Amino acid sequence: MENQVMPREQLGVCAEGNLHSVYLMFNANDGVEQQLRPCLANVAQYIHELSDQYADSAFNGFVSIGANYWDTLYAGERPAQLKPFPAMEAGNRDAPAIEFDLFIHLRCDRLDILHLVANEVAQMLEGLVELVDEERGFRFMDNRDLTGFVDGTENPKGRNRQEVALVGEEDVTFVGGSYVHVQKYAHNLSKWHRLPTKKQEDIIGRTKQDNIEYASEDKPLTSHIKRVNLKHADGSSMEILRQSMPFGSVREQGLMFISVCRTSLHFEKMLESMVHGDGAGNHDHLMHFTKALTGSSFFAPSLDYLLKYAD
Ligand code: HEM
Repeated sequence: MENQVMPREQLGVCAEGNLHSVYLMFNANDGVEQQLRPCLANVAQYIHELSDQYADSAFNGFVSIGANYWDTLYAGERPAQLKPFPAMEAGNRDAPAIEFDLFIHLRCDRLDILHLVANEVAQMLEGLVELVDEERGFRFMDNRDLTGFVDGTENPKGRNRQEVALVGEEDVTFVGGSYVHVQKYAHNLSKWHRLPTKKQEDIIGRTKQDNIEYASEDKPLTSHIKRVNLKHADGSSMEILRQSMPFGSVREQGLMFISVCRTSLHFEKMLESMVHGDGAGNHDHLMHFTKALTGSSFFAPSLDYLLKYAD
């Protein structure tokens, strides 16, 4: 891009992990688009400024727009691969679609700051949207999912996070944006904890305590990492950046699974491989112990895209 400034990404898309998170899902009231566009620009700008103000607590966040709402809000231009959530079902493995118009993702190492900002953001949007779902995520032990297994080990690292997560020159209007998929998974932990550790490890494909990857020949075809480790025809890996965190309370708890990626294809192929399997009857056995309650598809545009509509 000669003589052109790259659009700035929203900093929460590729941020490193935090201790706490707040997930706010909104639906927009009818006919508010004209007011909502500048309002979202203000929210994104505010989140961006707070990332500096609270840098020592690693505050970050992003604003994203639902696949089914995009055309109402930004009529006339659409990210090339933005599609509704790819709902799928096989046997008792269900990945339903529950869409929302807006998803605001906030994270910080201080829960008090997060609580304050979540309220401010909700106030900024007041009268334009309805808050329809809210969850709080937290770091569990040394970055473990509530199953007890370390989660995020094979995530892209360093600058590779941007390379994997952010749209590039392939879609010039949306450079610096990201396709976001969210699934709220409720775990059946009593069923999981009844399994001997070795059986749990066979389901994940890594050891539990030390988080060591199984040797390729020892990985069951039904293990989670076997099912999601996919390759393109040219042998390169299909990658996503996972920003998932455990959420919930004693009544209901699990993983808020969040994928950000420069393409929507990788998540869809991985989910297909988990639910439908490899065509030879091998689906992901992790799905016997957790249930997807939601499935939503969003696009998080670059900060500069959102600011085009500031007043
Ligand atoms: C890896 C847990 C859902 C994609 C892992 C690992 C764990 C885990 C423990 C191994 C450590 C690591 O590399 O992070 C879970 C749980 C899930 C879930 C508890 C839901 C209840 C998903 C979904 C997808 C996915 C829905 C994508 C559609 C991946 C990928 C890896 C991974 C790409 C890295 C595989 C590798 O390259 O080794 N997950 N996961 N996961 N998961 Fe999941």
